[in-house]
Amino acid sequence: MLQLPYLVLTLAAVALSPVGAAVTCKCLPGDPCFPSQGTISAFEKNLAHPLINPRPVAAVCFPQDPSFNAAACDAVKKNWNNGVFRASLPNTYQFTSWESIINTTTIEQCDPFGNVNDPADVCFQGRVPWGVVNVTKVSDIQNTLLFASKHNLKLVVKNTGHETLGRSAGQGSIMLWTHNLQDIDFSDNFVPKGAPHGTQGASTVTIGAGVNWAQVYDAVAVRDKVIVGGIGAGGTVGAGGGWPMGGGHSILSPFYGLGVDNIVEETVVLPNGNFVTANKYTNPDLFWALRGGGGPSFGILTSVTYLTHPSEPVTAAFLVSHTTSDEGRLALFNEWVKAHPALLDAGWAGFWPYKDNQFFLTLMALGNPPTNPKANSTLQTFYDTISQIPGVVIDLEVTKPYTGFQQWYDENFIDSQKGIGFNYTVGDFSGVPLAAASVLIPRSNFENNTEALAKALTALDDARPFLIGGGAVSKPDPDEMAVNPAFRVMLSDLTIALSWNSTTATPQDILAVRKNVTRLADGVRAVATDAGAYINEAEIFEPNFQKSYWGDNYPRLRDFKRKLDPKDLLIVHQGVNSEGWDDEVICKTV
Ligand SMILES: Cc1cc2nc3c(=O)[nH]c(=O)nc-3n(C[C@H](O)[C@H](O)[C@H](O)COP(=O)(O)OP(=O)(O)OC[C@H]3O[C@@H](n4cnc5c(N)ncnc54)[C@H](O)[C@@H]3O)c2cc1C
Ligand SMILES: *[C@@H]1O[C@H](CO)[C@@H](O)[C@H](O)[C@H]1NC(C)=O
Ligand SMILES: *[C@@H]1O[C@H](CO)[C@@H](O)[C@H](O)[C@H]1NC(C)=O
Ligand SMILES: *[C@@H]1O[C@H](CO)[C@@H](O)[C@H](O)[C@H]1NC(C)=O
Ligand SMILES: *[C@@H]1O[C@H](CO)[C@@H](O)[C@H](O)[C@H]1NC(C)=O
Ligand SMILES: *[C@@H]1O[C@H](CO)[C@@H](O)[C@H](O)[C@H]1NC(C)=O
Ligand SMILES: *[C@@H]1O[C@H](CO)[C@@H](O)[C@H](O)[C@H]1NC(C)=O
Ligand SMILES: *[C@@H]1O[C@H](CO)[C@@H](O)[C@H](O)[C@H]1NC(C)=O
Repeated sequence: MLQLPYLVLTLAAVALSPVGAAVTCKCLPGDPCFPSQGTISAFEKNLAHPLINPRPVAAVCFPQDPSFNAAACDAVKKNWNNGVFRASLPNTYQFTSWESIINTTTIEQCDPFGNVNDPADVCFQGRVPWGVVNVTKVSDIQNTLLFASKHNLKLVVKNTGHETLGRSAGQGSIMLWTHNLQDIDFSDNFVPKGAPHGTQGASTVTIGAGVNWAQVYDAVAVRDKVIVGGIGAGGTVGAGGGWPMGGGHSILSPFYGLGVDNIVEETVVLPNGNFVTANKYTNPDLFWALRGGGGPSFGILTSVTYLTHPSEPVTAAFLVSHTTSDEGRLALFNEWVKAHPALLDAGWAGFWPYKDNQFFLTLMALGNPPTNPKANSTLQTFYDTISQIPGVVIDLEVTKPYTGFQQWYDENFIDSQKGIGFNYTVGDFSGVPLAAASVLIPRSNFENNTEALAKALTALDDARPFLIGGGAVSKPDPDEMAVNPAFRVMLSDLTIALSWNSTTATPQDILAVRKNVTRLADGVRAVATDAGAYINEAEIFEPNFQKSYWGDNYPRLRDFKRKLDPKDLLIVHQGVNSEGWDDEVICKTV
């Protein structure tokens, strides 16, 4: 990184790179352009809470670190893999790799499990920000945006820290931490701002940007409603941050649409500090971009208003099976791929994790018995077919009625004792490094490319696909909002995740794992022609990310982004208009 002629009071330090292209860089701690302590203190006075200057959470484990504290270290180690703990703090992430700087030559991390007594083993700040704004007011966001803009600072936004691309962390950054925006308000008659007189009100819940799905589900269930939301162990995924900005899928999506299809209004602070409302009638272009354009590119969300739906009983179906031969495994996947369209059309949605020779189903249909008259026979036909395949062993097959989504969710994702089949309460990793990828596999591949797709899927040892497309997801016009048009034609979202051992891995080992994820996803992409990828579960080497995440919507999104954020304040790696920026979004070559 070259930062030659530094110019006081300009918004960007401009230098010439060896090849002659102009380079502009954000201003990091230690750079001459970085604001003085006095300037930072003056800024801090306008915030509702003092600025937090965090060290990585494991700094307390390093005897040479000023914050060393053996008891605090024990607590950190005990909670290391606890997703709730990690989601509650500004300086921790679900995946430890995002707290570290990892490139082809260097690992700068703060690993409490290494040899902390070795003077060479220090706790690096990594991608943990130097300053955290504990946001409780809109003015905190406005002041921070203006301050970061004036001093050309690197700015990140963190809600829960679940993103697989880790863009809620950043080397040398100041952070807007939205976790404490905790309002939840219901309406039976919500009318968007600016709607024509006489517009019919809707049943909605409006949540602050820091509320998570567990909180929303509990609040909604009390009112006998359901909502389309993220499904993860403990419910720690945020309901008002990256999830709605990237699309948001749910086991309920085939019935009620994607998360973005259920948003009726949002409030947002724009890069220029203006606090605005976006809906179908007020700022419709912004509303278009916010629904899928990806966080935080189009502003800082402060609230989201979602539709709620009347709760109804559901029927869940669980399968645990294993195969005793490669032929059996391939035949099982063939039948599963073939059954995909009919099962979705018959009203089933769900998950189909598989690992080594095991294959699981966790499916859900509305109604008890299922409202769709074909649900039972379609699934039964699939079970009967696979039970005839030599080498396929069915270990468990249960169909169970639940009073509603909430009971199903609590028993399978919150209570570790009541789940059936795949154990989701331990299935979601936290406190480990991660390399992930997603492939949104179109319906056409399930229908017309069955054998090749089945073969590509069996090449993976371990995957976590979501059967969450078709139905209501396929209905909206792909132009209606920015969300990836690939969602409208997909049936399953295949996610792949690999990890490594932070204590022992070298930069080359990590690169190998990351490339492995790309190689594995490429194997599926090679047969799933026209597949897109879900930005919220994406990989760092996603090829042609603009097309993968936004398809034909990209040019419109980029034009809008350039107008909205001319100073590139809210740029993230692989985000809209990130072309030319390095992977850490510190320097741009133009
Ligand atoms: C265990 C687990 C389960 C998951 N389950 C699902 C699922 O069922 N369905 C699904 O669709 N996805 C799921 N995901 C993926 C999830 O959608 C993404 O991880 C998402 O980015 C999380 O958003 P967040 O706000 O919680 O996390 P963060 O990492 O805090 O934020 C994610 C992104 O949004 C930005 N951002 C955060 N808050 C704001 C804000 N207020 N304004 C503007 N930008 C903001 C951040 O800068 C970052 O780029 C899951 C992920 C995990 C790890
Ligand atoms: C890797 O990161 C270190 C620490 O930030 C940096 O000094 C080095 O230049 C980086 N190397 C590469 C190849 O990017
Ligand atoms: C952030 O603000 C909240 C809400 O006022 C407060 O309860 C909390 O203690 C603050 N957190 C930190 C780490 O300062
Ligand atoms: C279909 O219904 C029958 C009769 O109620 C039941 O025994 C069977 O388990 C159901 N099949 C599935 C796959 O749910
Ligand atoms: C899920 O795994 C946890 C941790 O191993 C275990 O305590 C729990 O009993 C398991 N749940 C079920 C239903 O088997
Ligand atoms: C699959 O192929 C058939 C026959 O060519 C065609 O009618 C159908 O539309 C294809 N399905 C999809 C989803 O493209
Ligand atoms: C990483 O490797 C070390 C050394 O082999 C081992 O002690 C440790 O348990 C491993 N950690 C994990 C999380 O697997
Ligand atoms: C790459 O992935 C394959 C298949 O999952 C696995 O067997 C192998 O160990 C992985 N290698 C690395 C370096 O991650």
